[in-house]
Amino acid sequence: MWELVPSLSHTVSVKFKFQIPKPRNCITVRPWMNKYSSIRCAGKVNRWSLNGMNALVTGGTRGIGHAIVEELCGLGATVHMCARNEDELGTCLRSWKDEGFTVSGSLCDVSSQVDRQKLMEVVSSTFNGKLDILINNAGTNIRKAMVDFTAEEFSSLMATNFESVFHLCQLAYPLLKASGAGSVVFTSSVSGFVSLKSMSLQGATKGMVFPFFSRLYG
Ligand SMILES: NC(=O)c1ccc[n+]([C@@H]2O[C@H](COP(=O)([O-])OP(=O)(O)OC[C@H]3O[C@@H](n4cnc5c(N)ncnc54)[C@H](OP(=O)(O)O)[C@@H]3O)[C@@H](O)[C@H]2O)c1
Repeated sequence: MWELVPSLSHTVSVKFKFQIPKPRNCITVRPWMNKYSSIRCAGKVNRWSLNGMNALVTGGTRGIGHAIVEELCGLGATVHMCARNEDELGTCLRSWKDEGFTVSGSLCDVSSQVDRQKLMEVVSSTFNGKLDILINNAGTNIRKAMVDFTAEEFSSLMATNFESVFHLCQLAYPLLKASGAGSVVFTSSVSGFVSLKSMSLQGATKGMVFPFFSRLYG
């Protein structure tokens, strides 16, 4: 029912296969993309268009998530994004509005089930019960030796990097299905399949994406 589509070294997308085909595009997201990426995207619009599509990006105020928001907008998508820091969220939304992008946003700690449920309610209401693209980007890292982790740090890392993704995929399922051809993207990491010093637990949270989500809804 779903297909794993390797796109980047640390990004995996999963697509519905059984529904009404819609044009799908491959989006290349680079960590060094900045706010000017959208300008560069303008040249791609003819070949690569997401016009009429909507997307949810978790962790869109900084880094890779910020670049993803701008890339999607540059390709014509309407985006809802979330993060925890209210000031940064507001700054990003104002900046995107000035640039002419259609982006809305809400506060959400993806490690909290209550917040995740609220987020999906907002998304459903914003996009009339349909979601074309879910980008599970929000994630974090605690770099330390496995023996030094406290129980709280373990839970926090698992909840932010893995539980959040699992439950958001569950909550988004009806919306993705309603869109006719939903796509889910996971921002994984090389740490998920290569051993990196002081990142064994973070690597585990990122590596779980590969076996687990290859049959996400199957
Ligand atoms: N940077 C890399 O080299 C690299 C390499 C491989 C994989 N990745 C993965 O790529 C993703 C993005 O990394 P990045 O380096 O771009 O991160 P970043 O610059 O630290 O940005 C993280 C974003 O996620 C949000 N976020 C963090 N925790 C959150 C939570 N609990 N709930 C909601 N939003 C949260 C942050 O906003 P708030 O703090 O306001 O919530 C921010 O918008 C992560 O999943 C990371 O593991 C990164």
